[in-house]
Amino acid sequence: MGHAITGAGELHVEQQSSENEVNPAGREVISPRAVHTNRRLVIVSNRVAVDSGKHDSGGLAVAIRAALEKSGGIWFGWSGKVEDSPGNEPELIAAGPLTYATLDLSQRDFDEYYLGFANRVLWPLFHFRAGLVDYSRKDFSGYLRVNRWFAQSLAPLLLPHDLVWVHDYHLIPLGRELRCLDQAQVLGFFLHTPFPPAEMLRILPNHRELVEGLCAYDLVGFQTKSDAQGFCDYLIHWAGAEDLGNGALRAFGRIVRTQVFPIGIDTEAVSGHAAAAETSRHMQRLRRSLGNRTLMIGVDRLDYSKGLPARFSAFGKLLEAYPETRNRIIFMQIAPPSRSEVPEYKEIRRTLAAAAGNINGRYSEFDWTPLRYINKSFGHQILTGFYRAARIGLVTPLRDGMNLVAKEYIASQPREDPGVLVLSCFAGAAQELSEAVLVNPFDVEGMAEAIRQGLDMPLGERQERWTAMMKTIQHNDIAHWRESFIAALQASGGPA
Ligand code: UDP
Ligand code: G6P
Repeated sequence: MGHAITGAGELHVEQQSSENEVNPAGREVISPRAVHTNRRLVIVSNRVAVDSGKHDSGGLAVAIRAALEKSGGIWFGWSGKVEDSPGNEPELIAAGPLTYATLDLSQRDFDEYYLGFANRVLWPLFHFRAGLVDYSRKDFSGYLRVNRWFAQSLAPLLLPHDLVWVHDYHLIPLGRELRCLDQAQVLGFFLHTPFPPAEMLRILPNHRELVEGLCAYDLVGFQTKSDAQGFCDYLIHWAGAEDLGNGALRAFGRIVRTQVFPIGIDTEAVSGHAAAAETSRHMQRLRRSLGNRTLMIGVDRLDYSKGLPARFSAFGKLLEAYPETRNRIIFMQIAPPSRSEVPEYKEIRRTLAAAAGNINGRYSEFDWTPLRYINKSFGHQILTGFYRAARIGLVTPLRDGMNLVAKEYIASQPREDPGVLVLSCFAGAAQELSEAVLVNPFDVEGMAEAIRQGLDMPLGERQERWTAMMKTIQHNDIAHWRESFIAALQASGGPA
């Protein structure tokens, strides 16, 4: 007896059916009473944020929920739980138009696949931190093993005409594993992180296998042009691919299409939440605590890619070089801990706690603490109010796939008195938000000057820059991202 899947997308409303289908694995799948589409959407990602009312602090979770709530379908992946003997069948939870299908991981899978290969090899490598890569064959085989198991558990849920959209670096080999199980659906992949240049990718002993895995998809999406370029360069120079033009390549006996889809946010919703937050209790408390001082905000997972030590140094430099800012500015850095079992994340946490202590020890007054360093997460709506209250948004990652916080900061600003976004040129968002004050996150003095420039910026210039950026993120919002990817995926071949 197969599983009842009730998710149905709003794409291609074509037929009504009450008949059940048999999927390629021979299992009966109970169709919902009204089938709205011949192309149901199936999202696969490592982390499935089953809507439990708890905070999501990853861009992926936030973006996918917004996408699936509109289109419906299945969201398949890890439950976030580690169990002694996890079952092989996914747990299914129906939630309106979408069904969550989740698997628990064993401790060994968690260690090798998630902590090991995904987060101690691919994450640092894809963020240009070759020195932090800690490779082992055991972790790589754990990564492949979990991807194979995910594919085996997903295949029985799939219908022949599903559109399958796989997300992020944890699941690169999943497409190839599905193909090995004779799944002929249209498969798409989107990489939320950067993709490194070919020479850097070659540091990975299994670079060829990884890239071959990506070529099992019909469409591979990237955040920026340079990410797509890194992949295409590798295929052409190291895998003998034939460039077919328009982002399509023939490699490893298949045709793979590549395209750039910069991820967006639900701009209108974020703006609305921010405006509504004006009168909230949190905002009243925040404003009372600031007095008439200027607020500067940073919001990042506690991750070494976010450039927090240099950001703290830049703040210290600002207070040192521009004494008139003392007692006039408060920098609030929200940094919820992330991947805390990984040694490099433990290390960055220690470093930042010490750096925050140093700045506050050096500059605090009896009635002023310059840096509020907060290791906990906040709900999205509360954050939008905080962004709105901040005259400067400081987003200075050393490398970032996109950075949604940059876009959320802009969306939250009041039109009549918008704040200034200070943005790293190495965040994917900088490709779209060129009217931000762009900084090199390795240049501490440059960042201090950029903050100063933001503090001094006249209203007219702030409005001009903000209006241009707001227009961009209103156009390139989350719906635009989702619809562009799905349209490209539908057009990218496979059985119709
Ligand atoms: N976020 C949140 N609460 C927090 C911190 C972050 O909801 O306490 C959200 C934030 O609003 C943004 C996402 O987490 O939507 C972070 O995405 P981003 O692309 O900036 O970075 P990532 O964590 O994906 O590297
Ligand atoms: C980034 C990654 C996501 C990941 C998120 C949170 O946004 O691109 O794939 O889900 O960080 O990280 P975590 O390891 O907690 O899932």
